[in-house]
Amino acid sequence: MRKKILIVDDEQSMREVLGILLEKEGHDVTSCEGGVAALKALQKAVFDMVITDLKMPEVGGIEVLRSAKSVNPDTVVLVITAFGTAESAVEAMKLGACDYINKPFKVDDIRYIVKEALDSSEQPLDKTKLEMSRHEEPALQKIIGQSAAIREVLELLPKIAVSEANVMITGESGTGKELVAKAVHQLSSRKAAPFVTVNCGAIPENLLESELFGHVKGAFTNAVANKKGLFEIAGEGTLFLDEIGDLPLPLQVKMLRVLEDGAFRRVGGTDVICVDVRIVSATNKNLKEALKEGTFREDLYYRLNVLPLKLPPLRNRTEDVSLLIRHFLGKFKPLKKISHEAMEILSRYPWWGNVRELENTMERLMVLSSGGTITEENIPDEIRMPDSLPLPQDIPVGGVNLDGIIEDIEKRYLIKALQNAKGVKTDAAKLLNLSFRSFRHRLSKYDLGEKD
Ligand SMILES: Nc1ncnc2c1ncn2[C@@H]1O[C@H](COP(=O)(O)OP(=O)(O)OP(=O)(O)O)[C@@H](O)[C@H]1O
Ligand SMILES: [Mg+2]
Repeated sequence: MRKKILIVDDEQSMREVLGILLEKEGHDVTSCEGGVAALKALQKAVFDMVITDLKMPEVGGIEVLRSAKSVNPDTVVLVITAFGTAESAVEAMKLGACDYINKPFKVDDIRYIVKEALDSSEQPLDKTKLEMSRHEEPALQKIIGQSAAIREVLELLPKIAVSEANVMITGESGTGKELVAKAVHQLSSRKAAPFVTVNCGAIPENLLESELFGHVKGAFTNAVANKKGLFEIAGEGTLFLDEIGDLPLPLQVKMLRVLEDGAFRRVGGTDVICVDVRIVSATNKNLKEALKEGTFREDLYYRLNVLPLKLPPLRNRTEDVSLLIRHFLGKFKPLKKISHEAMEILSRYPWWGNVRELENTMERLMVLSSGGTITEENIPDEIRMPDSLPLPQDIPVGGVNLDGIIEDIEKRYLIKALQNAKGVKTDAAKLLNLSFRSFRHRLSKYDLGEKD
C-alpha cells in the first residue's frame, strides 16, 4: 500500500538513494536535509513512516524521533546509524524507534526492513527482529573470494559445521560473519531446523532476558501471555548470537548456566525446559581485552569459543576486491560495466568497512552513475583520496565522539605502519615512534595483531 514517508539525512546521496528506492516501491516520499526542516514538515503533514539519520548538525535524529512520536504515536520511525554507534541505536529503540539501519547499508536490507516495519505497524505486537532460515541461495555459495585467506576459511567451514561444538566467529565489521554463521548452519546436520539470529547489542538489557528465554504470563507488567524465547524457537537448530561482546554480565551468567545444564526456565516460570541448541556467536570486538577488563566472563568465553573462526579484513586480501566488484555488478539491475580507471581506484582503497562498505558503494555507484558504465567521476572523493584526514568543518550541536574519532585515526596509522613494515612489528613501531611494548598493546586493543 502507498505510504507517506519522510526521509531526513544531511547527506544528499543518502536522500537520493533512499528516495529513488522507496518511490520505486510505490511510496510517496518527502525529503529533508536536516532536523530543523524535518520538525517543520512533521507539523504540516502526517507521515506513516520517518527514516532519519541520527547524527546531523543542529537538530539530531533523536529529536526528530521524539517529535514524530509526539505528533503521531503511530508513525513508524526507523533510524540510520553509522559504524560503532550501537548505543544511540539502542537509545532510539527505547524511545520508540521500531528498528535501525546501519550505514552503509544494502538496498535489499532497506527494502526488507521498511516493508517489515510498515507491515508490523498494521498489526502491532511483537517488534523483535527474528530471522528464521528462509529459502534462499545457500550461504556458502554467496561467499566470494580466491585469496589464500578466504580459501582457508572455505576449507575449514565444512569441518567446523559437521562438528557439534560451539563456534565463535571474529572479524571486523562487514567481513561476512553473519554470512559465514549461516553457512555453518546450512552445512551442519541441523540444517532443516531453524537458524535464529539475535543481536545482543540491539535489544535493551531488560528485554533481552525474556527474548532469549521467554516468559510466563504475569512475569512482569507487560507479560500478558506466555511467550517462547529464542532458545526454544531455535529448538534443535542454531542460535546465532551476534555482537556477543555486548551481552550484559548478568545475562552472561544465565547463558553460561544454560550451556552447562542444557536447560533453563522462562522468566517467572518454574518448569525446566531442556534445549539442544548449537551456539554460533560473532563479535568484532577483542574479547580477550574484555576478559582482562572483566566485562566478559572467561568461563563463558571458553564455552562459546570451542571452534574459533577468524575472518580476514578485506584490505589483507586485495585480490578479492575485483572479484567482489564483478560479483556485485552482476547482482544489480540494469547491468552496468565499470571503467578500467574506476576499477583501479576501487581496488586501491583500503575498505575499512570491509565487504559491506564495498557492496554498499557498488550499489550507490549503480544508482548514481548515468549510462551503462561506472566511471572514475562517479566515485566519491573520500574513496578517491582516502588519505586526506577528516578535518572538522564544524561541531554539531549534539557534539561528536572525540574518543571514537581518535581511535579510528590511531587504528588507521597502526595498520598503515604494519603494511609499510611488511608486517614486521618492531619496524612498524619505529615508523610511529612508539616503543614496541606500546605498539603491541595498541594492536591488541584493536584486535589487529595475529592470533596470540
Ligand atoms: N566473501 C563475501 N562474498 C560476498 N559477499 C560477502 C562476503 N563477505 C561479506 N559479504 C556481504 O557483505 C555484507 C556484510 O556481511 P555480514 O553482514 O555477514 O558482515 P558482518 O561481519 O556480520 O558485519 P558486522 O560486524 O558489521 O555485523 C553482507 O551483505 C554479505 O552478504
Ligand atoms: Mg553482523
